[in-house]
Amino acid sequence: MQQLSASLKAEGKTIGFVPTMGYLHDGHLSLIKTAHAGAQVVVVSIYVNPAQFGPSEDLSNYPRDIERDQLLCRENGVDIIFYPDDGQMYPDAYATYVDVEGLTQHLCGATRPGHFRGVTTIVNKLFNIVQPDCAVFGQKDGQQALVIKKMVKDLHIPVQIIIAPTIREKNGLALSSRNKYLTPKQRKEASVLYKALQLGEHLILDKGELKASVIIDEISKLFQNKPDFTIDYITIVDTLKVQPIEHLSGEIMLALAIYVGKARLIDNIIIQVPRDQIPEIH
Ligand SMILES: Nc1ncnc2c1ncn2[C@@H]1O[C@H](COP(=O)(O)OP(=O)(O)O)[C@@H](O)[C@H]1O
Ligand SMILES: [Mg+2]
Repeated sequence: MQQLSASLKAEGKTIGFVPTMGYLHDGHLSLIKTAHAGAQVVVVSIYVNPAQFGPSEDLSNYPRDIERDQLLCRENGVDIIFYPDDGQMYPDAYATYVDVEGLTQHLCGATRPGHFRGVTTIVNKLFNIVQPDCAVFGQKDGQQALVIKKMVKDLHIPVQIIIAPTIREKNGLALSSRNKYLTPKQRKEASVLYKALQLGEHLILDKGELKASVIIDEISKLFQNKPDFTIDYITIVDTLKVQPIEHLSGEIMLALAIYVGKARLIDNIIIQVPRDQIPEIH
């Protein structure tokens, strides 16, 4: 892959990169489309990265279908699929990891210790292998997007990061490979995740509610009396340091993670809250 990228670059071609864990859906396909718009050659990686799964998580059950993925890539004009195995990515005595501090403390970082260390490590490795000019990630994984942008900035990685919008089903449910774990009934009811985000946005922008605790309480009520749904977190953070905030101002992310039956689903929205008016001093 490194040699292939080097020779493409020697020909003057630009490379757009979409890292995935496979079992592709329309969310991935929209990232591929964005990559095509930004570069001449599109590389998709398909790799279920063990380093980003906790010991009791769904690594062994994670849905896979490489043949279907290959077809979808072909249909969508992907030039190269990079499909490594664990032995290549983490050979015996593998020892090097990348950690972004602070931004990985809360939200999914709190529930999934080590998750972002696995993500930033594999993305670094993939960037070094694929050597892309630009790479496309989805807003669906909102904290991941912020963490990767921070890593690229801090480590001076010469890759342009593009964040593409979340693709949803008609009922609002964000597409995810993990939706495969849902029963048809749960998939229908899971539209409540996006409804919850929209309620938050309504309270903030239309009702002028700027206290995070009040908003989170209201949103939490949507998950009461739903036996299949358990809240992992509903949190509002700033998009710079990804720290929970109580008084909302500036660019914020309302994010949630909800267990729905066997699946843990995440979703988020970014909201621009008018900045506090600072009185002029004469
Ligand atoms: N519904 C979606 N809309 C936009 N991008 C998405 C969506 N779902 C996943 N992505 C993006 O696809 C990339 C690969 O994620 P992956 O873990 O393979 O997908 P999944 O969400 O299905 O688990 C990530 O950058 C992720 O943010
Ligand atoms: Mg994912």
